[in-house]
Amino acid sequence: MSDQNSHDHDDLVPSTFEDEPIANPGLPAHTWRPTDVDPKAEKRAERQVAAMFGLSMVCAVLFLVSYFVFSVGDEWDTVGGLGASNVALGVFLGGALLFIGIGVIQWARKLMGDHEIVEYRHPAKSSEEDREATLAALSAGLEESGIGRRPLVRNSLLGAVGILGLPAIVMLRDLGPLPGDKLEHTLWRKGMRIVRDVVGTPIKVSDLEIGDLVNAEPEILFATDSEGEPVLEGVEVQIAKSKCAVIVHRMEPDDIVSEQTLNWSVDGIVAYSKICTHVGCPISLNERTTHHLLCPCHQSTFDLTDSGKVIFGPAGHALPQLPIAVDDEGYLIAQSDFTEPVGPSYWERDPQ
Ligand code: FES
Repeated sequence: MSDQNSHDHDDLVPSTFEDEPIANPGLPAHTWRPTDVDPKAEKRAERQVAAMFGLSMVCAVLFLVSYFVFSVGDEWDTVGGLGASNVALGVFLGGALLFIGIGVIQWARKLMGDHEIVEYRHPAKSSEEDREATLAALSAGLEESGIGRRPLVRNSLLGAVGILGLPAIVMLRDLGPLPGDKLEHTLWRKGMRIVRDVVGTPIKVSDLEIGDLVNAEPEILFATDSEGEPVLEGVEVQIAKSKCAVIVHRMEPDDIVSEQTLNWSVDGIVAYSKICTHVGCPISLNERTTHHLLCPCHQSTFDLTDSGKVIFGPAGHALPQLPIAVDDEGYLIAQSDFTEPVGPSYWERDPQ
């Protein structure tokens, strides 16, 4: 038992309580922990704590091994699609931190000093004298530093502190490769059929009536290889699907206003990105008679007769139109990929 623990427990009851109208019941009798009175229990607890720290070291080493063994994207279907790399790194880093935490808690509960402390509350505010003295010291410090008189020093200091942010920005590189031009392209290609979302059936011109609007995707998202396995799987499909999503709408060809929209349409059928150019909500609310497409999030409204121009709301760019045509069998196909990036207007768009 340590000296710290050996003082009389009654010493902890403040004497100032003695004169109070209701007698202070004091603290209950202290119960010593097994590790305070039994050297064997103390040693055992020490070994348990060390074991926790040891397990933490093992997890940290396994984290490093996993980092080099599993490439990102390998075995993506591990644990319901989380991916082997994510699972291994997460489990081992989590384990390393968890075991340190358990070890520290056990150390505090079983081995650290077990004395009870009474502490009085005091007003947190400093005295008026202290406050005045602090303000005086601050003013004197500012005066002596000459920061107001020496703009060269002040400005160069601000520059030095400001530029310190650059290393942090440069280190963002380690988060992964830059997206390059990935944001500007989708899976749409010349001749690729436009198919209904969810079911994947191709769309014929004759399937659509005036005013119809259907959600669609490129057929490659539903394609399978010679063994019947999907060509695209997992995260790849989700990313591609979100970028490729289009709405297909039919109107009277005479309703089309812009020449580009007419050139990229088939018998009054037009296709536009389904992703709002404001902050990316999926859109499919249309007014059949005006051919306006309304985003449910912040009410941006796009004119499908006129290159998807914004006629109301916060969106900053027109809705990208997918140029479409019809193949020999009468099915709708893409003439090309979108000619500009789809989605929110976070970056400057290609003027092409
Ligand atoms: Fe469409 Fe805001 S996301 S208007």
